[in-house]
Amino acid sequence: MIYRTIKNTRIPALGFGTFGLNGAEGLAAIECALETGYRHIDAAIRYGNEAEVGQAIASSRVPREEIFLTTKIWYGDLTPQVIFDSTRESLDRLKTDFVDLLLIHWPSPDMDLGRVLDALAELQSEGLARNIGVANFPTALMRACVEDHGADLLTNQVEYHPFLNQSAVYDLCRRYGMLLTAYLPLARGAVMDDPVLQEIAESHGKSAAQVTLRWLLQQADVAAIPRSSKPEHIRSNFDVFDFALSEEEMARIGALRGGGRIVNVEWAPEWDPA
Ligand SMILES: NC(=O)c1ccc[n+]([C@@H]2O[C@H](COP(=O)([O-])OP(=O)(O)OC[C@H]3O[C@@H](n4cnc5c(N)ncnc54)[C@H](OP(=O)(O)O)[C@@H]3O)[C@@H](O)[C@H]2O)c1
Repeated sequence: MIYRTIKNTRIPALGFGTFGLNGAEGLAAIECALETGYRHIDAAIRYGNEAEVGQAIASSRVPREEIFLTTKIWYGDLTPQVIFDSTRESLDRLKTDFVDLLLIHWPSPDMDLGRVLDALAELQSEGLARNIGVANFPTALMRACVEDHGADLLTNQVEYHPFLNQSAVYDLCRRYGMLLTAYLPLARGAVMDDPVLQEIAESHGKSAAQVTLRWLLQQADVAAIPRSSKPEHIRSNFDVFDFALSEEEMARIGALRGGGRIVNVEWAPEWDPA
């Protein structure tokens, strides 16, 4: 495993996404991830599967302290009282006393950013969240958090894969000493069809998914949280620590980038230009 140390917190750079992993099948996939060795689990209240995540962690033999567990508060719930209540409910479902990271899932056009950040900081000082952060925040909102409100954020979790240029968010994360957590690291599977990734993969005896994850892991202060429901994919996505991409291969993959954003929603903020 490759680790990132950000603000004195050690984070496994390769995590496991859990969107869409619900019910018995979802539980089996999360259990498989823990058995495989994933120690960074990305959950969210909105995914409706915190009970499955909590059950998988509880039934694994992995000590809670060895797992870096994230959950996220939905954008419609960004008032202090709802943040306090929903976080406590979340911890009950996750069967834990704390999360390692509590994120704002999306910025809301209606939120009072200062009050939201104060509420998160209060949960952090009470020990319910060891770290706090944001997701889907463009640089203008990152600046507002850090420079206007003095927030101490561990990460910005954003869509990031070879087809989407995230240099503006990445550069600001690095300047603020934050982690960039790449969601949709496999572009929902589209990386498998890319000829450049396929060619590089073939030369290493790896898959295009493995090469993509390796490309993310070879970037400083980046974490990636691929999701899979299939044991063979869960295992192969974890098998990325026995090879390395050359600088030239890194640059070729980096050159694929453009405006290939996949996740967009009606409440999305104004994104940085890709
Ligand atoms: N903060 C946010 O707003 C936000 C938004 C979206 C996602 N996320 C987080 O990021 C995680 C990852 O994003 P995502 O799940 O949407 O997309 P992803 O990880 O880029 O892709 C998942 C898709 O790729 C397929 N796949 C996985 N490994 C594969 C492999 N080795 N070969 C071929 N196909 C493979 C999976 O299918 P199989 O199941 O068949 O393997 C699944 O359809 C989510 O689970 C969630 O935790 C956060």
